[in-house]
Amino acid sequence: MQPDRRTQQVFDGFAAHFEGKPTHLAIAPGRVNLIGEHTDYNDGFVLPVALDRDVRVLFRPRADRRVRLYALEFDSWTDFDIESPRRDDEQLWPNYIQGVGLALSELEVPLNGYEGVVSGNVPRGSGLSSSAALEIAAAKAYLASAKQIHALSGPQIAKAAQKAENEYVGVNCGIMDQFISTLGEEGHALLIDCRSLDYRRVPFPADTSLVIGNTKASRSLAGSAYNERRAQCEDGVRRLQSVLPAIAALRDVSSTQLERHRHLLPDTVYRRCRHVVSENERVQATVAALERSDFRLVGQLMNQSHTSLRDDYEVSSEALDLMVESMRDHPDCLGARLTGAGFGGCAVALIWRGSEGDVREFVRKGYAKRMNVWPEIYISSPSAGARVLPLI
Ligand code: GLA
Repeated sequence: MQPDRRTQQVFDGFAAHFEGKPTHLAIAPGRVNLIGEHTDYNDGFVLPVALDRDVRVLFRPRADRRVRLYALEFDSWTDFDIESPRRDDEQLWPNYIQGVGLALSELEVPLNGYEGVVSGNVPRGSGLSSSAALEIAAAKAYLASAKQIHALSGPQIAKAAQKAENEYVGVNCGIMDQFISTLGEEGHALLIDCRSLDYRRVPFPADTSLVIGNTKASRSLAGSAYNERRAQCEDGVRRLQSVLPAIAALRDVSSTQLERHRHLLPDTVYRRCRHVVSENERVQATVAALERSDFRLVGQLMNQSHTSLRDDYEVSSEALDLMVESMRDHPDCLGARLTGAGFGGCAVALIWRGSEGDVREFVRKGYAKRMNVWPEIYISSPSAGARVLPLI
């Protein structure tokens, strides 16, 4: 293969730290979610795309069962035994890789060790799923090293990585990020049913582009508030089950039912539920609108999603609201909303194709004027999910 500049850097990193040659390159992308926020852990629907930013592991199998990796951006090493890793208290990144190894072993996939370098260009801590990308790249490296690349389906790999994050790293995330990183497709969004894990490719319109605005605001509240939202949704389901015994999750509740039984719910719980129930409906409406090329409606649905996340789910922030406002001010912006868990991180806008450069400068300046911070703006197109390239 003819390496591009970034791949070349990873090869140079390998050459600087290991004798001999690598045998494989695993690549797993970050993601941006078009719509369907905080619905995945309610058994609902999401519509993410895989980004053209990813985590790469350039590696070769080892004869033993150790994983030995050097992280280029962190300038740091990890070296552990697959079955008995010692959790790293000094640095977080090895723990994702250790957790994935344990989760794969539990599925009784025979594994063996590997060594190499890890490198990523998904902005970290920004709501674009750099963690899921690291997990999935590691999963692919484990499987390829053991010649088990076809042993598990994409959804099984995604579930193993989610398990690692929930149980080993201790972050109670849903399935969306790992799923899209594993199964994303170039030029498409995926409509994922987070209950059955069935999914459908939805062609991304050639007339439009995605602009991502990174507020650079920290997401410090994200962990505790995320868990609190999950608990409020579960509380809503329990209360509604007294009159709707057949429901198992908010996915099973319609807007009409929610309104009818509103009196059973404390106001905050009601508003959390209203976000989830209406967001699931918006995902379906967005897919239908995309399929009939009604991009203005897609934009409106994105705008409604942001309002619902801000007012009912209360996961926006001043920085995110101002980013969304800076995006919507551009005449070629069809709609904009926060993306990911919220509380900071990124917003995503759908814009008419052709004005990317102009929108980028406009949003940069507009946001900087409002917030006194220069944001980062990424123009991205839906990309392929995770893969392993054999090098010899
Ligand atoms: C984070 C989680 C996902 C999902 C989103 C909100 O990205 O990792 O599982 O819950 O927040 O939609």
